[in-house]
Amino acid sequence: MTTDNLSSRLLVTGGCGFIGSNFVRYWLGQHPESRVVVYDKLTYAGRRENLADLWDDPRLLLVVGDIGDQDLVRSTCQQEKIDLVVNFAAETHVDQSILGPLVFTDTNVRGTHVLLEVARELGLRLHHISTDEVYGHVRDDHQSMETDPLLPRSPYAASKAAADQLVGAYAITYGLPVTITRGANNVGPYQYPEKAVPLFATNAILGEPIPVYGDGLHMRDYAHVYDHCTGIETVLLHGQIGEVYNIGTGREMTNLDMVDIVLDTLGKSHDLIRHVTDRPGHDRRYSMNVDKLKAVGWQPKYDPKEAVAEAAKWYAENQTWWEPIRSGEFREYYDRQYAERLAGLEP
Ligand code: NAD
Ligand code: TYD
Repeated sequence: MTTDNLSSRLLVTGGCGFIGSNFVRYWLGQHPESRVVVYDKLTYAGRRENLADLWDDPRLLLVVGDIGDQDLVRSTCQQEKIDLVVNFAAETHVDQSILGPLVFTDTNVRGTHVLLEVARELGLRLHHISTDEVYGHVRDDHQSMETDPLLPRSPYAASKAAADQLVGAYAITYGLPVTITRGANNVGPYQYPEKAVPLFATNAILGEPIPVYGDGLHMRDYAHVYDHCTGIETVLLHGQIGEVYNIGTGREMTNLDMVDIVLDTLGKSHDLIRHVTDRPGHDRRYSMNVDKLKAVGWQPKYDPKEAVAEAAKWYAENQTWWEPIRSGEFREYYDRQYAERLAGLEP
């Protein structure tokens, strides 16, 4: 399948979020003939400014709406003559899913279901963005394969796994042309500072403590968002319909190693590190085998250390993006999540 016969009209749900906005910028850069309609509810994580450089581009349109609004999704797809839906829209933070889980089911499960229904009605291809968290945490001698059972352990991961199951069921029952990619932990520009790498980078720049959950030996594959975008593109252009593909570097590091890279990149003291009360149900290790996508011709550009360092540098160079977030609405969440955990902890 080539770009030309794939689609020139994409509905990118969640396109104002971290990965969605990076994908929109990447896709329009690579496929100048394309048209992209960003469909986004603009939650706290969805920010128009993530695509500030592109809103004047006649190839890009923003529709503000909820993916659970079937009438608006349908009419947008019809009016804009969409033929491919790429679904990034989701509630995405594990800690938020522990504090308030129901919205995760509303958006991640029901919202995805609505997109599947509209795709079925209108005969559209749907590509669904999923996560390595659906596999649950993996033992030290294993890497998750696409065929592994889904064993999610947080409300976030469970809602993403449920969505994956619905996407698979629509392929089998209705023959809907779908693909799924499961991404590792992404880092890079425009990631909301609730996630570990941007939280640690911005705290370090502000001289605030770095709250490491538990012993900090939990392992993650920190992949650059650029490589996630090229991986999704590879699946859209060359992937097999009906298939699932893992996207990551295939290499993981501990959170303490990640913190070291962040602090060293920013030239900040390791005295900022605080070990705080662990996250309930904290998955010990994620690790995916990514050979299936490599066999289709994809290769990551960044290793995890470069990815984390590049991300930390971006936060140092783009304070104007994150300062209004950190000093505004984010503060209430931060205090709720960390004030008690950090109280009284000395370096
Ligand atoms: P994000 O939280 O930065 O952005 C989510 C976007 O979805 C926001 O723009 C938000 O406004 C929008 N949104 C939320 N609810 C919506 C709704 N009901 N209707 C329409 N739009 C809605 O998330 P992200 O990190 O960019 O993640 C994007 C996708 O990638 C998600 O599906 C996530 O599960 C998946 N993923 C993320 C990571 C990661 O490390 N961040 C890794 C693997 C997979
Ligand atoms: P996060 O970015 O929330 O991604 P996920 O939980 O989806 O993997 O967290 C990455 C890792 O960092 C994870 O092991 C939890 C840990 N972490 C902390 O130690 N402290 C924090 O304040 C946060 C947000 C995460």
